[in-house]
Amino acid sequence: MDLGIRGKTALVTASSGGMGRNIAHALAAEGVNLALFARSADKLQAIAQEIEAQHGVRALAIRGSMLSRSDVDNLVRRLQTEFSGVDIAVLNTGRPPNPIRATVEETEEERWTEAYQSQLWGTIQVVSQLTPQMMTRGWGRIIAVTSASVKAPMPHHSLSTVFRAGVTAYMKHLANEVGTKGITVNCVAPALIETPHRAGSAAYTPEQAAARKKLTPLGRMGTQQELTGVVTFLASMQAGFITGATVPVDGGMVSSLF
Ligand SMILES: NC(=O)c1ccc[n+]([C@@H]2O[C@H](COP(=O)([O-])OP(=O)(O)OC[C@H]3O[C@@H](n4cnc5c(N)ncnc54)[C@H](OP(=O)(O)O)[C@@H]3O)[C@@H](O)[C@H]2O)c1
Repeated sequence: MDLGIRGKTALVTASSGGMGRNIAHALAAEGVNLALFARSADKLQAIAQEIEAQHGVRALAIRGSMLSRSDVDNLVRRLQTEFSGVDIAVLNTGRPPNPIRATVEETEEERWTEAYQSQLWGTIQVVSQLTPQMMTRGWGRIIAVTSASVKAPMPHHSLSTVFRAGVTAYMKHLANEVGTKGITVNCVAPALIETPHRAGSAAYTPEQAAARKKLTPLGRMGTQQELTGVVTFLASMQAGFITGATVPVDGGMVSSLF
């Protein structure tokens, strides 16, 4: 299926690895030019080079933090000068504070502040700077990566749930305000997507991994491709009548009718 986005330009935030990198590749495979944004300049540059080599599109690495006002100002300036703005913005973020804890044990202001900034404020800062630019183009796709936790809170994930619910609410407001400008705004809510282990993040024992697989009717974890495919579809022409929605990519883990 031709998704109708060949030649468009996308920003993917938090794209120096993991899901962000994979989302950038998936969009590039549809002929979309890419702007990559994260703090690790070397990793970003390497990904930009691999995207250009594999997909024959333009890929630009812009180093910066979603939490820094000057970095985000610079990002928006570069997007304007290099691409005359972007058509598609995928708001991926870093992970919430580690280790995860029971809600009653989440008493440290530093962790709440870190979670607010990394999960909610960074996203709002980038989107609010980018959206006016997108509105002048008369077409756009804004897609935030949240978590299935916003529909069914998972144990020990309150730092994520509280602020990703905030992202969901923000995106719903934005969807209502920018729809007549040709812009759709949606969230993708993953859970249980296979992720390579990273130092400092939770590593699951074989027993824990087996227990996690049983959380879905499908009896398995999801693949990165199953996540990136949904993001790419929401960026497509065909998804033009979907806005203000949260699309779960959780293998059916969230057990509700809607
Ligand atoms: N796997 C799942 O099932 C699942 C479920 C629910 C939610 N999620 C969420 O999906 C997101 C992606 O997960 P992942 O496994 O791909 O994470 P990851 O491998 O840890 O990658 C996180 C990315 O965020 C970037 N980043 C962190 N802080 C940043 C900042 N201030 N400004 C710009 N970029 C920043 C990092 O790059 P730099 O260090 O270079 O900045 C890195 O590229 C996370 O928020 C995760 O919680 C995943």
